[in-house]
This record gives sequence, C-alpha cells and structure tokens, in this order.
Amino acid sequence: MQVIIAGSPGEVASLAADRIERLLARHKAAVLGLATGSTPIALYQELIARYHRNQLSFREVTTFNLDEYVGLAPEHPQSYRTFMQRQLFDRIDIDPRNTHIPNGQHCPTEEAAAYETRIRSLGGIDLQVLGLGRNGHIGFNEPCSSLHSRTRIKTLAEATVRDNSRFFEPGEFMPKLAITMGIATILEARQILLLATGSAKAEAVRTMVEGPLSASCPASALQQHPNTLVIVDSEAGSQL
Ligand code: GLP
Repeated sequence: MQVIIAGSPGEVASLAADRIERLLARHKAAVLGLATGSTPIALYQELIARYHRNQLSFREVTTFNLDEYVGLAPEHPQSYRTFMQRQLFDRIDIDPRNTHIPNGQHCPTEEAAAYETRIRSLGGIDLQVLGLGRNGHIGFNEPCSSLHSRTRIKTLAEATVRDNSRFFEPGEFMPKLAITMGIATILEARQILLLATGSAKAEAVRTMVEGPLSASCPASALQQHPNTLVIVDSEAGSQL
C-alpha cells in the first residue's frame, strides 16, 4: 500500500486525476470502478475540466459503480445513479450504455450475481476509485463484512445511516439496505485508488494503513492488494 499525503483536497483530486489520465493514455477502453460520496466529487470535477481541455476522452471507457441503495429507483434524486449522472456522466463523452450501477430495485440476489458476471465479462476492473467511511467501510462493506464477500445486500451500520442522512431531506425515506460490491470483488481490481479528506477520516485512515488486517476495518483488506494507492490530505493523514 502506497500512501501520499497531499497538501489539500484539491491536490488529492488532481493527483488522482493524474492516475486516471495516465491509465486512459495507454488504455482508451479502460474499465473504471467508481465511487459516490462527497470525497470523489472534486476528482470528478477535475476529470470534467480535463475532458473540456481535450486532455481526456471517455468515449471507449466502461464504468462500474460500487453500490446503490436498495429500494430507490434509478431516477430517484438520492439514488447513486442520479448522483453519478449529475456529478460526472452527463458532463463527459461517456456512452451511457457503458455505465453500470447496481439496480437497487431488481431482485437483489439476481442483480448481485448479474453484476459480478457483467464485471467479469468486460475483463474486470482496471482501476477502482474508493472513498472511505468514517467507520472504515469501503463501498457499503460495513465493519465485520467478510473479507471474501462478493456483490450482495448489506444492512447499513447506524453510523453510516447517520453520516449519509445529510443527503436526504428531513423526514424523507432513507434506505437502510444497499447492494454493494464485496471486498473480494473490490480486491480483484488491478489498481486501487482510495481517497480520503478531512479530519473526520483521520482515525479510519490510520486504522486502514497501520492497523491489523481485520474485518472490523474493511478498508484494511486493501493492505493485501499489491497495487493500492491511498491519497489523503494533511487532515485525513494527521494520525499517520
Ligand atoms: C458512502 C459510500 C462510500 C463512500 C462513503 C464516504 O457510504 N457508499 O462509497 O466512501 O459514503 O462518503 P464521503 O466521501 O461523503 O465521506
């Protein structure tokens, strides 16, 4: 696991965009694994800016998102499909047919198996972008998720429901279940790029990097991956 402590969230986004630009320069039809949450928004803005400067094209790129809430229609304002359309897909030249997000409304077991098959049939993920939950989750693999887990339904931890409720209106229905790539699914990506910013992530970053490999911090599983780059800002890296 390589760790870069950048000076600011903007620098985190720029260094992460460099990695993606480098990958696309040698592999135009790369398969990217993408994440939601507030952390990757700055990366997506940087990718959009580079696309407008003709530095990047996504015409041949395929994407697979990590997760989706169960019970929300893709067009629901808080669905991860809507998030990705607004934050990235509608603003770059990607073919909409090449963007994949688990469907939280299909039969979850069938959708989970079909998602794994789709990833495999396209040759696997070249580079997986990850954020980090304050409790150490990646995707929606909450603490105590099996390190061998594959795409499946997970119940959200209370802390995650609390953290993510900021995206929902007061009183609005917020799902407590999600469909998420598993830890083993994530570890199959050829390259992993985990981003974390802000002091609220400092403890999770330390546990992920310096703690024992343990299901109580799902992100610590990345210690086993031969090509993981963690990019944090000075606040998120303050306990390293
Ligand atoms: C959600 C997502 C994760 C993300 C996490 C952190 O739970 N499922 O993929 O990493 O939020 O979000 P934020 O970047 O907003 O702190």
